[in-house]
Amino acid sequence: MTDNLDLFSAPAPVDIAQPAIKIEALRDQLNHWAHQYYVLDEPTVPDAEYDRVFRELQALEAAHPDLVTPDSPTQRVIGAVMEGLAPVRHTVPMLSIHTETDTEATGAQAFDARVRRELGLTEADPAIEYVAEPKFDGLAMSLRYENGRLVQAATRGDGEVGEDVTHNIRTIRQIPLTLREGVPPLLEVRGEVYMRRADFDALNERQREQGGKTFVNPRNAAAGAVRQLDSSITAQRPLSFFAYGLGAITPPGEGGPQFRTHFEMLQTLKSWGFPVAAQVRIAAGATELVAFHQQVGASRDALPYDIDGVVYKVNRLDLQRDLGFKTREPRWAVAHKYPAQEMATRIEGIDVQVGRTGKITPVARLAPVFVGGVTVTNATLHNLFEIRKKGVRVGDTVIVRRAGDVIPEVVGVMPGKRTGYVPNFRMPTACPVCGSAVVREKGEANHRCTGGLFCAAQRKEAILHFAARRAMDIEGLGDKLVDQLVDANVIRTLPDLYRLGLTSLIALERMAEKSAQNVLAALEKSKQTTLPRFLFALGIRHVGEATAKDLARHFGVLDAIMDATEEQLLAVNDVGPIVAKAIRTFFEQPHNREVVEQLRACGVAWPEGPVAERAPQILAGKTVVLTGTLPTLSRDAAKDMLEAAGAKVAGSVSKKTSYVVAGAEAGSKLAKAEELGVPVLDEAGMLALLAGTGA
Ligand code: IVH
Repeated sequence: MTDNLDLFSAPAPVDIAQPAIKIEALRDQLNHWAHQYYVLDEPTVPDAEYDRVFRELQALEAAHPDLVTPDSPTQRVIGAVMEGLAPVRHTVPMLSIHTETDTEATGAQAFDARVRRELGLTEADPAIEYVAEPKFDGLAMSLRYENGRLVQAATRGDGEVGEDVTHNIRTIRQIPLTLREGVPPLLEVRGEVYMRRADFDALNERQREQGGKTFVNPRNAAAGAVRQLDSSITAQRPLSFFAYGLGAITPPGEGGPQFRTHFEMLQTLKSWGFPVAAQVRIAAGATELVAFHQQVGASRDALPYDIDGVVYKVNRLDLQRDLGFKTREPRWAVAHKYPAQEMATRIEGIDVQVGRTGKITPVARLAPVFVGGVTVTNATLHNLFEIRKKGVRVGDTVIVRRAGDVIPEVVGVMPGKRTGYVPNFRMPTACPVCGSAVVREKGEANHRCTGGLFCAAQRKEAILHFAARRAMDIEGLGDKLVDQLVDANVIRTLPDLYRLGLTSLIALERMAEKSAQNVLAALEKSKQTTLPRFLFALGIRHVGEATAKDLARHFGVLDAIMDATEEQLLAVNDVGPIVAKAIRTFFEQPHNREVVEQLRACGVAWPEGPVAERAPQILAGKTVVLTGTLPTLSRDAAKDMLEAAGAKVAGSVSKKTSYVVAGAEAGSKLAKAEELGVPVLDEAGMLALLAGTGA
């Protein structure tokens, strides 16, 4: 009886499958969200919600330790420590790839011609279809999945035997630990582990703050992170992954997939949860390969990761099989490199340069080196702190980087190459140009010459700035001429420009009468200007074009600006305490007021009047980037129109950019806009926007 009763009143027997099912469901959910976040870059839930479910799973696993599996999202950062990296024999060797370093056209053509010849094709046959991919600058990785679970990750090693780095690869969030249903029982995915540039910069910043060692480039940082023995170190180095191929896989006869093309295989890898680069394209024949090489080359600096070239692969897998291999390289693929952006060379000396604001920049004189497509003999060292931080000394072998049109810089010292004692670099205490004292203000990284316009270097820069296109727009007054004029002591102050005569110009070396007349005409023409241009041309610290325009609009006349107090200046749109103080300080100096008076006396004039009516600010708060050549408007005209409507015109595209206005031959900025999903307008679209009828 009692037994019976007990039977009825007892709670239902514990369903041991329950927590297992719940745990599985939570893992699926978290994996799904993580894929959207890390691979697709499209988060669908707030971080807090992810964290909540993550903690729920952690709690469940803590209560059921027997249900914890190494592929659970909670186990990504496990801090496994290895004694050494174990060797892994690759079932399918990891090949290298033949490299073409020739010029744009010939590299692709040579490859296409070789492929056609080996396939026995004639000119009458149609173009071969290729897949063109970026050549990621990281390190090759083979990921082995058995029944949809990551069981091993190995480096390339010598191609036959690599190293087991599974414990570290598990910390990379872009790499799935479990795959969805429907994947073949055996799957080896090959690809590149790399570090995004932004992640690399942030890592170095952090290392610097903590007094740790900094890395020379993203590839070295990634390679170091992957080969750690302690995976908790790897977990702190943000790594990413791109899939580009396959190793061993269940054959079609045993239920594996049957791919017809390389592209189809990549699409499938993507659908299985692996990151595949958005830049991968199908290209027909050599012509389209050349176009791809050019297009990716132009957007190289805008990509969020480093590449060192592109890779071309024959798309059809049956043709790949026909072509086969030559020793360790497939005949169906080739790497086509870009000029290296980093090279090693020796520092032969360190000089300093004096800029317009008096900033003293240490510059490394280098043994000439071909980098980023040009021969480089100088590279900036930025300031004394950078030199100390990087530990650079004369005679060191250093890595020099030149990317795009960026000024070449020394990124780091090659370790272990210094022979003998070399003294540390010291900042000069006197300006090398004018002998004035060199000082460093509190809280500033830069040293400055205190000579002001007494310093010829600063005078030259000040004159060039005054003459610049967006300032007084004095055509023909360039570097060389300014050097000559200042060195010959013909020009000591800005007003001296307008006192130039034909005789003093012709007296200069290599100055023909015709050119001298052109310069005088340009000077004459520049006298009719606008208040914002004039203000900008004066070169007041912190007063750029936008501030000059704001000041002109606010005060209307120059005298009001010259006599304004800091409080009055602070009332101007976008003028803060630092800018207000700089303006005040500038106009407090009697010699600066004198310069203004003399310029006016020389005939420099602009329409002054009541405060100008502001155009409706329909683009207030918007940031616009201009790129390429517009069909009718000049770059400056477009910029002026946008700014008049309240927009900020920026030089580079970011997530914060509101619009990109693109004309003919737009390059990397357009690519970046497309990548970030920033709206792109043509000239007509921009005009419509300004008229209030556009996007
Ligand atoms: S395919 C059989 N595709 O380049 C060809 N390699 O291969 C196997 N690399 O260290 C390689 N990006 O890690 C291929 N899109 C890409 C690549 C790529 C970078 C690296 C690879 C290897 C080297 C030579």
